[in-house]
Amino acid sequence: MITVKNGLLISVEGIDGCGKSTFIKNLQRKLQEHNVDHIITKEPGGSPLGKLLRQIILTKEVPLCSKSEYLLFAADRAQHIEQIIKPALIDNKVIVSDRMGDSSIVYQGYARGLDIDMIKTINAWATNGTVPDIIFYLNIDVPTAFKRIYERKEELTSFEREHEDFMYKVKKGFDELFNNKDNVVKLDAHQTPDTLAQQAIEVILQKAKK
Ligand code: TYD
Repeated sequence: MITVKNGLLISVEGIDGCGKSTFIKNLQRKLQEHNVDHIITKEPGGSPLGKLLRQIILTKEVPLCSKSEYLLFAADRAQHIEQIIKPALIDNKVIVSDRMGDSSIVYQGYARGLDIDMIKTINAWATNGTVPDIIFYLNIDVPTAFKRIYERKEELTSFEREHEDFMYKVKKGFDELFNNKDNVVKLDAHQTPDTLAQQAIEVILQKAKK
């Protein structure tokens, strides 16, 4: 069994429809094949509290202003770090998280317009400064992602058009935030699932050896 001293924290980021779920499934298979001791988790929803918060955030059954929405993501994040990530790092595991704090910087900051420095400060406080060792950024253009989400025909509905405008802001945010960052591995998400997973496992095995 391959373990990594003090663990290895990996987040997977990208716009809606970039193929994160398929990517993570394929990456998990590779981790199993290579006998890497790992866990798969996510934000929001990685902890028991997070599952409840995810319901509140994503179903939008009650109105949420941008700030309370962000603070719920932050609460999910604090619990996730404390209950899931920290113990797994101590256990020398590789952790793959479907999204982490960078999603808040991009979705709530760049796209919804909340103060980006404030989000960075609260993220750092909520996580005790825990940041991913590797960020896989699944880079895809917005029209392709939309085709995947809506299997779009000719015309967009007004809801889809609004969502598309929002997603362009998200895309720009990720591109800006992840430009020239050491821990970011940018993957071209138009490639086949197996190619993507192969590229990722090579990066992980390389890092695990060090
Ligand atoms: P996710 O579960 O990754 O859904 P999907 O697989 O469809 O991308 O995330 C749910 C949504 O929550 C997604 O639209 C991104 C958003 N999100 C934020 O706005 N801020 C955050 O901090 C996080 C973690 C997610």
